[in-house]
Amino acid sequence: MKSKLTVDRDQVISKIDPRMWGSFTEHLGRSIYEGIYQPDHPTADEDGFRKDVINAVKKLNVPLIRYPGGNFVSAYNWEDGIGPKDQRPTKLDLAWRSKETNQFGIHEFMKWAKKVGSEPDMAVNLGTRGIDAARNLIEYCNFPKGTYWSDLRRKNGAEKPFNIKVWSLGNEMDGPWQIGHKTAYEYGRLAHETAKAMRLIDPDIELIACGSSSHQINTFGTWEETLLDQAYDDVDYLSLHQYYDDSDHDLGEFLGKSVDFDHFITDVANICDAVKARRHSKKQINLSIDEWNVWYHSKAADDKQAPWQVAPHLLEDHYNFMDALLVGSLAITLMKHADRVKIGCLAQLINVIAPIMTNTNGDPSVWYQSIFYPFMQASNFGRGIALAAKSDVPTYQAKDYEVPYTDSVATYDENGILTMFIVNKSKEKVDFESTLQNFDVQGLDKATQFCGYDLMKTNEDQSMKLESMNQVTVSDNKISAELQPLSWNVIRVKVKD
Ligand code: AHR
Repeated sequence: MKSKLTVDRDQVISKIDPRMWGSFTEHLGRSIYEGIYQPDHPTADEDGFRKDVINAVKKLNVPLIRYPGGNFVSAYNWEDGIGPKDQRPTKLDLAWRSKETNQFGIHEFMKWAKKVGSEPDMAVNLGTRGIDAARNLIEYCNFPKGTYWSDLRRKNGAEKPFNIKVWSLGNEMDGPWQIGHKTAYEYGRLAHETAKAMRLIDPDIELIACGSSSHQINTFGTWEETLLDQAYDDVDYLSLHQYYDDSDHDLGEFLGKSVDFDHFITDVANICDAVKARRHSKKQINLSIDEWNVWYHSKAADDKQAPWQVAPHLLEDHYNFMDALLVGSLAITLMKHADRVKIGCLAQLINVIAPIMTNTNGDPSVWYQSIFYPFMQASNFGRGIALAAKSDVPTYQAKDYEVPYTDSVATYDENGILTMFIVNKSKEKVDFESTLQNFDVQGLDKATQFCGYDLMKTNEDQSMKLESMNQVTVSDNKISAELQPLSWNVIRVKVKD
């Protein structure tokens, strides 16, 4: 099979917002406790943060992390997580039917986020709470001093305001499972009024409204339209959440889900633009895909977990090689939509449907899942400018979509490196040829592949690795490569400015 990609320096999609490569950590399972925070762990630092985890997170280079939920936030009282730790209450977390000790709260999160080099995306509770709790929270976090909440922050150890810029107005408020679930109209009104109050305290914040919690939910479309009718002028981003599973038990269907992801993004952008047109507005709403991933392995095990444990093993998917290929393809899809997708959060970061896992007592203390590798490369190299590359490749027919056998995108960064990301979804080798137009090609920088594993192989033994691609040639402005069957490939080429 042959796959051709024409990349033209002048065909720009958009500059990539680095926040596209964000992630998410929720008070859920062992994401925070035994993940980020474990004071009795041998690698714990002076704040009780696991240094082994900090080092692993740094490799992913995530510029933004969403916190504290997720479903958790919809019944969370943020005040429970501030002040002296021995006075913080243990409460029931209804979303995950666990016990929350509140030993980790806003101050700990802000400190940890700084250590891993990320900015926060702070979610407010619009489930059980609303305007009042949100306005107090932003006063606590962003107001300098001289008021009850800002002085309480100072008393709790943070003299300077946190100056949190990005805020999420609730979580998945369209979902009947959500505590405090709302209709689109109810949510739209609440988002509008909450945004209004928050911006009175800090006009410089950026706000994300909850869009649909999947492309497949039956309120999709009307949800976006109805809520934007109420809150269009108040928010900067609309969120999309999407998880994929292997419900068809079919490789072609599974790997084809990136096409659904692509359509989801286009559909939501179109809805935003329809509302914009109807309102004669000049403002564009951008997209925050603040939960995306593969999620299905842990569901049966989770049903058997006893309720009301502290940090139970929940949502601990062990990802296989096939999942890594889809995650790579979803990451490519994000880059293809860099003009609208400004924020993305791989959900989640540690232990819970995550690229990074911890062993409480085991060796190694931290291990990388299969999905770690494509996400790490997309995050580190998918920077700069996304180019609208033209692809010429055979397709196959899945149930709902026609799926190209190779999925690819190109980016070009300020260091003079052009990167091509390519997933080969076929069981055959593919002759890949790319023509780089309007580039002065200087030679190959590096080419890697992730391939050759059994589709069901998971990575507890840490044997999965990126390897060099040998069959790559650069001649003038043509790059040729042999793509291995079912592979994730990253080809980096030096180009002159
Ligand atoms: O990421 C796990 C859960 O998935 C989140 O809490 C929720 O927002 C979504 O349904």
